[in-house]
Amino acid sequence: MDNIIEVIKKRRSIRKFKENQIKEEELNLILEAAVHAPSGHNDQPWHFTVIQNKELIEKISDLSKAEMAKSNEEWIAKIGSSNRSIVHNVPTLIIVSGKKDSYSPLVDCSAAVENMMLESTSLNIGTCWLGLVNYFFKIEEAKVLNIKDGYEPYYAVGIGYISDECNIHSIKRNADVFTYIK
Ligand SMILES: Cc1cc2nc3c(=O)[nH]c(=O)nc-3n(C[C@H](O)[C@H](O)[C@H](O)COP(=O)(O)O)c2cc1C
Repeated sequence: MDNIIEVIKKRRSIRKFKENQIKEEELNLILEAAVHAPSGHNDQPWHFTVIQNKELIEKISDLSKAEMAKSNEEWIAKIGSSNRSIVHNVPTLIIVSGKKDSYSPLVDCSAAVENMMLESTSLNIGTCWLGLVNYFFKIEEAKVLNIKDGYEPYYAVGIGYISDECNIHSIKRNADVFTYIK
C-alpha cells in the first residue's frame, strides 16, 4: 500500500483518459472508499450515480455546454462554445448527490469525492472533480438521472485510466496558508 502523503501528492486532475473501462473490482473499491468518508452527525447523506454509458456521458457534456454558452460570465460562455468535452471524455462518471435535509450534505459529499479520488490514485486510475456538470443538473433533461427524492446532485467525478498522452502538471501550492498558535 502507498504511503498516504504520496497518494495525496500524486493525485492530479486528469483531463485525458483511455477509452477502455475501469474494472468492476476497481470501481467497487472506489465506491467503498466513498462511503467511508466522515459525515456530520454520521448522516452519510450521499448517493452515487455511476454512469458508464458513453452516449449519456456525451449528452451530459453537450447539454451542460449549451447552458454554459448562454452565461454572462465570459470564461463560462467561452468553454460552453468550445468543442471540447467538459467531462474530458471519461469512461466512468460518478454523480454525487446529497440528502438535502441532513446536517452537512455538501461537505460530506465533498469528503466522499476526495476519498474516491485518493483511492483511484492509489490504483493508478485518473480522476477529475467535475463542477461544471452543474449546468446539466439544472435543466429538464437531468430527469434521466433519476436522482432520489430529497437529494440534490452536487458534483461529478470523472474516472478512468490515464491516457499516455496526458501531461500531468504538478501545480505549485500556496505556502502562505498556515497560522501556528502555540
Ligand atoms: C469544486 C471543484 C470543481 C471543479 N470542477 C472542475 C471542472 O468542472 N472541470 C475540470 O476540469 N476541473 C475541475 N476541478 C479541478 C480543479 O481545476 C483542480 O483541482 C485544480 O486546478 C487543482 O489541480 P489538481 O487537482 O491537479 O491539484 C474542480 C475542482 C473542484 C474542487
